[in-house]
Amino acid sequence: MALLLRVVLLCGVADLIRSLSITPPDQMMIEKAKGETAYLPCKFTIGPDDQGPLDIEWLLSPADNQQVDQVIILYSGDKIYDNYHEALKGRVHFTSNDLKAGDASINVTNLQLSDIGTYQCKVKKAPGVANKKVLLTVLVKPSGTRCFVDGSEEIGNDFKLKCEPREGSLPLRYEWQKLSDSQKMPTPWLAEMTSPVITVRNATSEYSGIYTCTVQNRVGSDQCRLNLDVVPPSNRAGTIAGAIIGILFALVIIGFIVFCCRKKRREEKYEKEVHHDIREDVPPPKSRTSTARSYIGSNHSSLGSMSPSNMEGYSKTQYNQVPSEDFERAPQSPTLPPAKVAAPNLSRMGAVPVMIPAQSKDGSIV
Ligand SMILES: *[C@@H]1O[C@H](CO)[C@@H](O)[C@H](O)[C@H]1NC(C)=O
Ligand SMILES: *[C@@H]1O[C@H](CO)[C@@H](O)[C@H](O)[C@H]1NC(C)=O
Repeated sequence: MALLLRVVLLCGVADLIRSLSITPPDQMMIEKAKGETAYLPCKFTIGPDDQGPLDIEWLLSPADNQQVDQVIILYSGDKIYDNYHEALKGRVHFTSNDLKAGDASINVTNLQLSDIGTYQCKVKKAPGVANKKVLLTVLVKPSGTRCFVDGSEEIGNDFKLKCEPREGSLPLRYEWQKLSDSQKMPTPWLAEMTSPVITVRNATSEYSGIYTCTVQNRVGSDQCRLNLDVVPPSNRAGTIAGAIIGILFALVIIGFIVFCCRKKRREEKYEKEVHHDIREDVPPPKSRTSTARSYIGSNHSSLGSMSPSNMEGYSKTQYNQVPSEDFERAPQSPTLPPAKVAAPNLSRMGAVPVMIPAQSKDGSIV
C-alpha cells in the first residue's frame, strides 16, 4: 500500500517536472510610479508531453474590485487579442515577438492608479497548465513640494518650517538639510530632521541660512529649498516705522500748507489793519474786503461763489502778492518780528532793545 502510494507520488513528481511550468518569479510584487511602464514577467517551459495548442491568458483582479478576474490580453491560435479591458486599452503588450519560445511576459505602459491589482499569467498547452500571480502597485512620486516658514522669522520667536509635497503616495520620508554655513542643522532641530514640520523655538540669527527638504517615497523623490532669514524684531518694525514716517511726512506737508494759508490770512488781515500797500504794479482790487474774506472762508466755497470780476483779483493775489511776501518774510520769522511790524506793536512785544540779552538770559535753553 505504502509502496503503491510512493510510486504514484513519484510518478506525479516526474509528471510535474516534464509538464509545462512557469519560471519562479523574481518578485511577486512590483511597484512602479504613475506614468511608468511595468514589466510583468512570465517565462515558461514546455514539457515533452505538452502537445496541445498554446494558449496564454493574462487576467486582472483589480484591487478596488474584488469581483471577477478580467482578461486583459490573450494569445490563442497564433493570434493576439488585447481589446478586453477598456481602462487598459492600448497599454498592454506582450514583450516577446515569439511567444512559443517561452516568454509570455507583458508590459503595461503609462501606469495609472486604476491599474493597481493582481495580474495572473495563465499558460496552457494541453495537458500542461500553469499560472502565476504578480501584484502590481502604482505609486505617485512626490512632486510640487513647497518649503515655507509658518510664522514670523524673528529673533526670540517661535515658528515652524514646513515641507509639503502637492502629491505623493504614502509612506513619505522627509529629510531636512542645511546647505549654507557649516551645513550643520541647529541642534534643537535634530529630533525633527526627518519630519515634515520643524518646530523652531526662541529663534536666533544663527538659524539663518539655506535649507532643503527632500521628500521621498519608494518610487521617487522631490526637493524644495528654504531661505531662512532670522532678523531682529526691530528690522521688521523698521519697515512698519518707515510706512508711518511716510504718513507723518505727508501730514507735515499738509500742516505746512495749512500754516502757509493761515499766514497768508494773517497777512491779509494785517495789511488791512495798517493799510500797507506794496503793490504798485497791481491795480487795487475792486473790493479788497471780498478778497480777504475769500481767504478767511474755505477756499472751495469761495471759489465756487466767485464771479468772474473778483476772480481776477483773486488770481492776482495768488500769483503776484503772496509769493513775494513769503520770500521776504520767511527767513525772519519766527525768531525776529516781521520787519514791517509797526513800532507800537514792537514795543508791545518788548523785543526791540533787549533782543540779544533776552536770549542769553534764557541760557538754560542753550
Ligand atoms: C517593457 O518595459 C521595460 C521597462 O519596464 C523596457 O525596458 C522594455 O524595453 C519594454 N519592452 C517592450 C517590448 O516594450
Ligand atoms: C532665548 O534665547 C536667549 C539666548 O539665545 C536666552 O537668553 C533666553 O533666555 C531664551 N529665552 C527662552 C524663553 O528660552
